Amino acid sequence: MAIEQTFSIIKPDAVERNLIGDILKMISDSGLKVKALKMIQMDRAKAEGFYAVHKERPFFGELVDYMLSGPVVVSCLEGENAIEHYRKLMGATNPADAEAGTIRAAFGVNIQNNSCHGSDGPETAKNEVAYFFNDNELVG
Ligand code: CDP
Ligand code: MG
Repeated sequence: MAIEQTFSIIKPDAVERNLIGDILKMISDSGLKVKALKMIQMDRAKAEGFYAVHKERPFFGELVDYMLSGPVVVSCLEGENAIEHYRKLMGATNPADAEAGTIRAAFGVNIQNNSCHGSDGPETAKNEVAYFFNDNELVG
């Protein structure tokens, strides 16, 4: 299997509840390596650009407001099959449907405040990592 990189966000609901360490531990314990990591406060343009693919969806406005509601922790994660691996570790979008042992089952509040983001494919992973990190920040 190929070594891949994926992009992760620990979302505002999880940062606010002091879950950064718990989620990073689940990530590390699963075998993914942290290649880059920082805490940021997104502005509206950054969040709207990040979720541009969802801009016609009814939840877009609320989703952007939520992502602006506090700081987030963004990271680039690396490992075998990292994109699918991290999607599995996160669990279903709606925490109510997420399998036991996943991040969203453990910590997600509802379908919007679901504690984490992970890229959904190789192209988005590449674009999302580059949207938040310069090459010289990928130091891990
Ligand atoms: O994050 P994921 O790829 O699992 O789901 P998505 O369909 O790409 O949706 C992006 C984000 O929008 C979700 O993680 C939720 O935070 C939010 N969302 C929402 O607020 N209401 C929905 N009905 C679906 C998604
Ligand atoms: Mg998605």
